Amino acid sequence: MAHNILILGSGGREHAIGWKLKQSKQVGKLFFAPGNGGTAALGTNVSTLPYEPVTTKVADDILRFVRDNKIDMVIIGPEDPLSEGLADRLAAGPNAPKWIFGPTKNGAQLEGDKAFSKELMRSCKIPTADARIFSNYEQAVEYVKSRETPLVIKASGLCKGKGVVLPDSQEEAIAALSDIMRKKIYGEAGHKVLIEERLVGQEVSLLCFVDGQNIFPMEGAQDHKRAFEGDKGPNTGGMGVYAPTPVLTDAIMSQVEREILIPSLDAMRRHGITFKGILFVGLMLTAGGPKVLEYNCRFGDPETQTLLLKMKGDLFAAMVACCEGTLDKVDFGFESKVSVCVVMASGGYPGAYKKGLPITGIDEAESDPAVRVFHAGTTRAKDGTVVTAGGRVLNVCATGTTLKEAREKANAACAKIRFEGGFFRRDIGWRAG
Ligand code: AMP
Ligand code: GLY
Repeated sequence: MAHNILILGSGGREHAIGWKLKQSKQVGKLFFAPGNGGTAALGTNVSTLPYEPVTTKVADDILRFVRDNKIDMVIIGPEDPLSEGLADRLAAGPNAPKWIFGPTKNGAQLEGDKAFSKELMRSCKIPTADARIFSNYEQAVEYVKSRETPLVIKASGLCKGKGVVLPDSQEEAIAALSDIMRKKIYGEAGHKVLIEERLVGQEVSLLCFVDGQNIFPMEGAQDHKRAFEGDKGPNTGGMGVYAPTPVLTDAIMSQVEREILIPSLDAMRRHGITFKGILFVGLMLTAGGPKVLEYNCRFGDPETQTLLLKMKGDLFAAMVACCEGTLDKVDFGFESKVSVCVVMASGGYPGAYKKGLPITGIDEAESDPAVRVFHAGTTRAKDGTVVTAGGRVLNVCATGTTLKEAREKANAACAKIRFEGGFFRRDIGWRAG
């Protein structure tokens, strides 16, 4: 029997998950809430099913939709509804779907409460940046004044990908504390603040399937946060990713498994957390070994687009196995190709940008079988044309036998796609050659 699936979210991540699921013989109809201009071609976009903030009504509406559309699996894409306990509410309700992909609220704390995850790491000696946790502004300022080495200031709660400041001076650090703790620019998310030592090294995103018992890492990926080539310009949500990254060598990967992944599962168990879903470990490869920068409790965006393009095996089966605790019985892996994702962004992003601009050339870009275009910030106009609807508009992905070949294919595909003001980085993966 084919299973109908509801995917919550609207980004390139959700488009890529839907695209990969669609290849499974076990998958029936796909519904996306709200979805985007790309997901509309894979299934049904539902605009009347909000998932945040999570309230009783929101959960009831989703459960009613699940019942009416015979949905067997709900996939919760973004972190906010996970940390607000949407998975718990859906599981507890009438007509709960058979499978809910995404951790419960206590598992999602690993991302939603950085003070909690720092303490969890400490309790099990998982390598991470040294940090102090403050809920008192004056004490935090005193601490900053007593430190000479570079610091990182982090709001403990979720801030829509913001909330981490790398100050260049004590004055900047104190200004950040004032913004977060006194002006409360992130609201309650700034109730506690972490002041961390600044780590130096290459960053790697490591997404892992987790079923409560077993943890299966995918390939290491490297994100590019700065807007412009050569890692210049303002920070963004991410301008491109490639995988696998050669900086995560087999030797370092074994160390990561031994010192970080397995102890992380143990630590969760000790804290009473049965984590099921994706654990995304943000790593810094320092001279003193790999260290955890952060945990995320969901698929990364745009890492997922890059990884799913080269995943072998049935994503649906892997997701069911995460829910059922049977990951050790599932066969999946990754093709031995390099995968590159280039983000095409709206002119002006990450500042102000226009929306509603028509996009052309996507079909032409996908005429190369190595290329796949996932939509991120797009929607369909009344006449069906695809138009821009966000800062990061498209995730243009390609595979190749080498990083250079994959990047060239992705860049060539981007060159065929047009929308007014659109821009992208041609140098994704430059640190690796
Ligand atoms: P996070 O949300 O904790 O991943 O932080 C966002 C970004 O800030 C990371 O991807 C890093 O680039 C940077 N960052 C966070 N913590 C540190 C740290 N302790 N040292 C250096 N950079 C950091
Ligand atoms: N690409 C980083 C994230 O998804 O948080």
